[in-house]
Amino acid sequence: MSIEASAPAKVILVGEHAVVYGQPAIALPVSSHRVTARVIPNAPGECGLRLIAGEIDRVLPATVEAEAVTDALDLTLRLTLARVGRLAPDVTIKIESQIPIASGLGSGAAVSTALARALSMALGCPLNNHDLNEIVYEVEKIHHGTPSGIDNTVIVYEQPVYFKRGHPIETFTIGAPFTLLIADTGQSALTRIAVADVRHLYESETDRIQPVIETIGLLVDETRQAVERGDLTTLGQLMTRNHGYLRGLTVSSPQLDTFVKAALDAGALGAKLSGGGRGGNMIALVTPETHSAVKAALLAAGARRVLGTVVAEGQ
Ligand code: MEV
Repeated sequence: MSIEASAPAKVILVGEHAVVYGQPAIALPVSSHRVTARVIPNAPGECGLRLIAGEIDRVLPATVEAEAVTDALDLTLRLTLARVGRLAPDVTIKIESQIPIASGLGSGAAVSTALARALSMALGCPLNNHDLNEIVYEVEKIHHGTPSGIDNTVIVYEQPVYFKRGHPIETFTIGAPFTLLIADTGQSALTRIAVADVRHLYESETDRIQPVIETIGLLVDETRQAVERGDLTTLGQLMTRNHGYLRGLTVSSPQLDTFVKAALDAGALGAKLSGGGRGGNMIALVTPETHSAVKAALLAAGARRVLGTVVAEGQ
C-alpha cells in the first residue's frame, strides 16, 4: 500500500522582491505542474527512512537535531516528525517533480509541501495547512535566505493569494478568467542570491530603492482591483510596469528582457519576470487571439518551453 501527496508550482503575478520588505504581492498556483511524494513500505530488513529524489537516494541521518540540519529535504522530514511527535518510520519516500528547479516556479516549496504532507499522512497524523505552511516556511529559509513566505503560502493553500508579510492570508475574486504563458529561459538562478543582492542594494541606497519598493506595493493593489473587475488590459499594463521596476532592482536578465519584448511585440497584454528573476521564468498575459502568436514568438526568442495556465474563479 502506498500513500501519495502532491503540491503545485506557482507564479508571482506581481510584487516579488518588494514583498520581502512588507509590501503586498499576488501569487497564483499552477496546478497543472506538481511535485508528488509517494510513501511505500521498506523492503523486508531495510531500516530507516529512505528518500529517493532525482539523483538522491539516502537514509535520513538518525542522530541530527533539526536545528543542525542544513539540507532542505532532511529539514522538512525532521520538522514534520517533530510536529507530529513521531520517530522516523521505516518507509521509502519517492519524490517526482514536474517543476524545473531554480526557475522561479517554487519547486523547493512544492517539494517540501508534498514531502511533509505525505509523511504526516503516512504516520496517520495529516498536517493541517496552517502547520504545514509553518514547516515549509522554515525550510524556505534554506532556499531564500530571508523569504517573505509568499511561495510556501500559495503552494500549501493552492489558491490565488494577496499576500502581505505578517498579515492573515487574503484571497480575492477573479473577475474574468485569464491565461498566462510561462516561458522558461532555461537559465537556473538561485532566489537566495537575487534576494540577497536586492537586500544589499536596499541597504546601500535606501533613499533610492525604498520609493521603488513602495511603488511596487501600490501597483500590486491596483493589480488586485484590475483582476477583481476583470480588466485585463489594465492588468497587462501593470505587469509590464512591474517588470520595469524589477529591472531597476537588478533582478532581470538580458534573456528575460528579450522575452518580455518578444511577448509584447507579438500582442501580449503584458509581460514580466516572475519569482526571483535573473533567469527562470517570464509570464505573459495573452488572449485567445494572441495566444499562439505570443507562444511562437517566445519559442523563437529561445524559450526552452512555454506552458499555459488559466486563472479562473474557483481554481
Ligand atoms: C520568490 O518567488 C519571491 C521573492 O519575492 C522572494 C520571497 O518573497 O521570499 C523573490
